[in-house]
Amino acid sequence: MTPEPRLEAAAHFVRAEVHADIGSDHAALPITLLRSDRVSRCIVVEKTPQPLAVARRAIGRAGLLERAELRLGDGFAPIVVGEAHSASITGMGQRTMLGILERGAERLPPALILQPNDGAELLRAWGPTQGYWLTGEALTTGFWRYAVLHLERKTGNDPAYLGVPGAAARRYGPHLLRAAHPLLLAELQADLSRLEPLERFGRAEVLEGVRALREALAWLDGRQVGR
Ligand SMILES: C[S@@+](CC[C@H](N)C(=O)[O-])C[C@H]1O[C@@H](n2cnc3c(N)ncnc32)[C@H](O)[C@@H]1O
Repeated sequence: MTPEPRLEAAAHFVRAEVHADIGSDHAALPITLLRSDRVSRCIVVEKTPQPLAVARRAIGRAGLLERAELRLGDGFAPIVVGEAHSASITGMGQRTMLGILERGAERLPPALILQPNDGAELLRAWGPTQGYWLTGEALTTGFWRYAVLHLERKTGNDPAYLGVPGAAARRYGPHLLRAAHPLLLAELQADLSRLEPLERFGRAEVLEGVRALREALAWLDGRQVGR
């Protein structure tokens, strides 16, 4: 079975001996990673027994149980420090993911692949505070538009954000803006139609969104003029 584009995009960023997938449920991502030999072993974490059983059955049907380890627990709690080289969290809201990352701060591996179902702004802002650079981004279609972030632990300032205005970069993604990704351009137009009529009501959330949007559009325009 072909995985959803968002999970395929997440898999593309993974290359590790031991990988941990947090909140696997149907285990489509661990199965993709093991089948394609992007990882040798995968630790599959679920917080409740029922989805863990679903994951076990799916991995069993795929004939991959020998290379998978299934563990029950909250986020990174079942991961021993240093045992995983990378980890993924996909298909959840960014606030839930942030909570998992914050509770697991001591156990995080050097590479993270994050695919939130809503915005990615909080996760992009979190990275630099914890010494993670945003080394890659993807944007895929599906039920919604999904951003996929590849974060790697490195020292110094993250060059991804150089030369891209801050609010626009956090909301829309510095790599996606630099690439003028076609799905991102469609998202900017959709945000413009959605947010502009709401601006006059003055809600802080809307005003912040409009600011980031205008920053992004002006930056993209400026680049075209400069070409
Ligand atoms: C919507 S599903 C996403 C499944 C899959 N990762 C995907 O992208 O399609 C979210 C899964 O994460 C699990 N989950 C949520 N919070 C978790 C936590 N703190 N630790 C482990 N698993 C968690 C839920 O039990 C659920 O099975």
